[in-house]
Amino acid sequence: MHTSKCLGFLALVCLSAAKLHRNHETHDYYAIHLQPDKSPQQVASVLGLDYEGKLGELQDHHTFSSPRHRKHGAEGLLEDLRLRRRKREFTGAGILDGVLWSQKQKTKPRMEKRSILPPPPTRQGPPDNGLPGAPVADAGAVAERADLARELTIEDPIFNEQWHLFNTMQLGHDINVTGVWKQGITGEGATAVMVDDGIDMYSDDLKDNYFAAGSYDFNDDNPEPKPRLGDDRHGTRCAGEIAAVKNGVCGVGVAYNAKIGGLRILSKVITDEDEATAMNYKFQDNQIYSCSWGPPDDGQSMDAPGLLIRKAMVTAIQQGRQGRGNIYVFAAGNGRGSGDNCNFDGYTNSIYTITVGGIDRKGKQTYYSEHCAAQLVVTYSSGSGDAIHTTDVGVNQCYANHGGTSAAAPLGAGIFALAFSARPELTWRDLQHILVLTGVPINEDEDWDTTYIGRKFSHAYGYGKLDAYAVVEKAKTIDLLKPQAWYNSPWLHINHSIPQGTDGLLSSFEVTKEHLKLANFEKVEHVTVTMNVQHTRRGDLSVELRSPTGLVSHLSVTRRLDEANAGYVDWTFMSVAHWGESGIGKWSVVVKDTNVNEHNGTFTDWKLTLWGECIDAASQPLLPIPTEHDDDDHTVISASPTFISVKPGPSETATDFPANPTDHQHRPVNAKPTAPGAISTASSTALPDAPPDEDETDTYFLPHYFPTFGVSKRTQIWIYGAFAIIVLFCAGLGTYFFIQRRKRRRSEREDYEFEILDDEDAMLNGNGAAGGKRKGRRAGELYDAFAGGSDEEQLLSESEKEDEEEYRDIGPASTEPGRGRSQSRQGEM
Ligand SMILES: *[C@@H]1O[C@H](CO)[C@@H](O)[C@H](O)[C@H]1NC(C)=O
Ligand SMILES: *[C@@H]1O[C@H](CO)[C@@H](O)[C@H](O)[C@H]1NC(C)=O
Ligand SMILES: *[C@@H]1O[C@H](CO)[C@@H](O)[C@H](O)[C@H]1NC(C)=O
Repeated sequence: MHTSKCLGFLALVCLSAAKLHRNHETHDYYAIHLQPDKSPQQVASVLGLDYEGKLGELQDHHTFSSPRHRKHGAEGLLEDLRLRRRKREFTGAGILDGVLWSQKQKTKPRMEKRSILPPPPTRQGPPDNGLPGAPVADAGAVAERADLARELTIEDPIFNEQWHLFNTMQLGHDINVTGVWKQGITGEGATAVMVDDGIDMYSDDLKDNYFAAGSYDFNDDNPEPKPRLGDDRHGTRCAGEIAAVKNGVCGVGVAYNAKIGGLRILSKVITDEDEATAMNYKFQDNQIYSCSWGPPDDGQSMDAPGLLIRKAMVTAIQQGRQGRGNIYVFAAGNGRGSGDNCNFDGYTNSIYTITVGGIDRKGKQTYYSEHCAAQLVVTYSSGSGDAIHTTDVGVNQCYANHGGTSAAAPLGAGIFALAFSARPELTWRDLQHILVLTGVPINEDEDWDTTYIGRKFSHAYGYGKLDAYAVVEKAKTIDLLKPQAWYNSPWLHINHSIPQGTDGLLSSFEVTKEHLKLANFEKVEHVTVTMNVQHTRRGDLSVELRSPTGLVSHLSVTRRLDEANAGYVDWTFMSVAHWGESGIGKWSVVVKDTNVNEHNGTFTDWKLTLWGECIDAASQPLLPIPTEHDDDDHTVISASPTFISVKPGPSETATDFPANPTDHQHRPVNAKPTAPGAISTASSTALPDAPPDEDETDTYFLPHYFPTFGVSKRTQIWIYGAFAIIVLFCAGLGTYFFIQRRKRRRSEREDYEFEILDDEDAMLNGNGAAGGKRKGRRAGELYDAFAGGSDEEQLLSESEKEDEEEYRDIGPASTEPGRGRSQSRQGEM
């Protein structure tokens, strides 16, 4: 009797140690915005759902769930409620009248990592390979670097390969950080977090800077966002660029004394609710969220974060970092070769994100880094025969081939960590302002405009390349901006067919001094245009925005691969080029369809929003958290457009990239330098960096029908191991008592105690009737799992093999990407 109770208790302990987690295969989830005075538990019981808890940091938002097989009326009730709300037919009395907004969660396609593998070393590089024609290191610079390493006691073995920190070959082509370090500014007090596929907190190059308190694994619901799939290396590599420890292992991070965490979201399908929770997780402690991912860069996607994610980001901007706002750093995207542009990505074109593009070690444009009016800066990444050298997954593993805009964004995050180290009170807008003022123009023979405040802006490089020294010096002294104000124009209804060819359709709106005064608006920072255009081939369209000062932002460009019969639906484009303008005067949008063909369309309407510094800080409210009604037409005016003569807008199909039949793929990865100095032509196929689905089994060590309890393999092994010990123990006891009982039966005496024990024994062994068989299988699986022992090592060595194979994957045999893929991507939209 005692024994059985004890066993039951042990089993309970084991099971309750396993945390409940989101299981998108077996459960449905609902996000609900409730009136603050309503009880989520009561709402749950009325809807027939389970209450999961508060939804991240979102005020009055809650998550509910239901096993998929359960019958409940929640969806009907919520839909009914939505209708009644629309018709304003609710009394406010019932529990459900407290539901302000609800959304059943859908799993969405995994975000794409923005990494690309640089071409294998060619005659061009790596630059110090000693082959003829390779650039040589400057002896003076080499000596200077050695002095610096001595002065700062940098003994990390690949520091000399980290050209992005100190370039001894192409002098000046680095982030100019050493002068910052010499002042003792090395990231102390700053925290960044990689929102990615995990970070290896047990790497010797990361563990001393690892910030456990700001980290979480949203894919496997575990406090440790450890890489678990063979493909989970991206986050660790990016993390190393930001904050690899100065300790004689691999290299050093830009902010080598900053703290670095991980939020793992890229390794399984997730919902908006999961992503929203990750995007402001521990937002008082995590200052910078570094994001090297996004929707496909295939030149045909047009995807923005859902409402919950936008709410999460605005919440972090307004409340995070004690009200100064968190920093979201986003990789611009690698779709340039597919004619993509970062204004078609709702993450990179958000005013709340700092979009960072990539240039190579010679300071040249890369074939992959997307252009757009929303891009603030660029920094170094792969190209010209080399890539970023950083940490890798493993105790002491380095990586020499980190590339794509994936590798550029974390260098930005590292520099921003240095800026926060020097001046913690900078707000999210102050940091953007610093970048506007300190970006260093490069390749000035290319297309640069002079902005109203005398800065240079280019759609290819934003305000230029990041200079860590300039950023930190500016951070120390810059006057902080007053709070953010905004001015919304009315919706301008156009409803006019778009001419094809050399005429464009121009529509203007005059912003007056009075408009801005009423809006408490002093000076422009970001400008957004939200618009609706119908068109039977979206890729034919382009849009420019002309400010009162005459500066033109190319909000949208033609995209040769974008066949969508869709146009733009309430899409918001953004430009940072007008930073510092007054905003007063005539703003015009010009919608063009320069491709004369059977595809045509109608310009429906547009709305201008100016975002910037307020006049009077004391009377400036915070922006309301976004709602589903933000694009509703509250004020509408009709406007007649005029025809104007236009030139084709820029598009990446132009000279650099002759449309090339092998180029119809979602992502170019195999650009080989064709000739010294020539920009590579993208040709070849997608990297196999989206892990095949089978990889997901990596998180299970038993077949799927055994619960994982949402914990790591190690913990699963522990749970099942403990369970097995109990089972074996019980079996042993059972046998013992059975023998005892047989002995007693033989003496023909009854003893009910043993019968009870038998029942409980069966229960413990696995759900009643099926107990016997299950028990056998479990023991067998368990045996295998323990025999495997070093599962995780196996995992890694497999992926190492994979890495070796990556070069082979880029071979000419794989140049047929398949239109099927493009199609199916489109289908995802
Ligand atoms: C780079 O840093 C040095 C100090 O180390 C500084 O003198 C120089 O002005 C910086 N470059 C730029 C472009 O700011
Ligand atoms: C748009 O214009 C067409 C004619 O050009 C007209 O039939 C239609 O009603 C208009 N739609 C709106 C919403 O004004
Ligand atoms: C598009 O072209 C078709 C025929 O070519 C024409 O009937 C239709 O009115 C046009 N639509 C617009 C919006 O111009």
